[in-house]
Amino acid sequence: MIASVDFSEWMDYNAAQTAREVRPLLLDALTAAGPGAGRQAVDLGCGLGRESDALLRAGWRVHAVDFAPNTEENLHATTREQDRERLTVEVRSFADLAGLPDADLVYAGFSIPYIPRDVFDRLIGVVRTAVRPGGLFAANLLGVNDGYRAEHGEEFTFLDEDEVRSLLFPGWDLVRLDIEDYDGRAYSGPHHWHLFHLVARRP
Ligand SMILES: C[S@@+](CC[C@H](N)C(=O)[O-])C[C@H]1O[C@@H](n2cnc3c(N)ncnc32)[C@H](O)[C@@H]1O
Repeated sequence: MIASVDFSEWMDYNAAQTAREVRPLLLDALTAAGPGAGRQAVDLGCGLGRESDALLRAGWRVHAVDFAPNTEENLHATTREQDRERLTVEVRSFADLAGLPDADLVYAGFSIPYIPRDVFDRLIGVVRTAVRPGGLFAANLLGVNDGYRAEHGEEFTFLDEDEVRSLLFPGWDLVRLDIEDYDGRAYSGPHHWHLFHLVARRP
């Protein structure tokens, strides 16, 4: 599967992230999670590492996962030396991810919709197992109205509201679910976004 991936698009995207603010979803998750000090977070699809860096600065241990070949280099450039003893990096495709460290927060910023539904469902199973009781999962997810659906169909995962509300994490508490459905811009140009910004807590 990895052999067919054009990493250059993701690498270009990630290289363009140096100047942006830390994503609001991560800030919301940090507020809901409370103090980081020594607790474990996972950053799924960490990209350049802006949110991994924010987690480290907030005292978290961070396990950063991404399949882009320059992921270690990105994280080295983005994080502070004194924080790196709390950072582990796994360069791996979500399709090949067998497990994750037990975590108090799993964060997936605009990263896990870009896989087929069977891989997505298996990954969600891995996340459910990894998040400790009382811990959080936070993710930006794509909805069924999203413009990528016409182009990428079965390659990506598009969800409806019921799935996001109750099926992905049955019995978990919704801390936040913001829904957006609007014409805007993506990195690649004009785009119709249908987004779910989810924070859920395992009971
Ligand atoms: C849109 S970027 C988001 C990066 C970062 N979280 C951010 O918010 O800037 C998506 C990231 O997910 C990674 N990614 C995409 N598909 C993946 C897969 N199947 N396995 C692992 N990482 C993947 C890409 O390499 C890229 O870094």
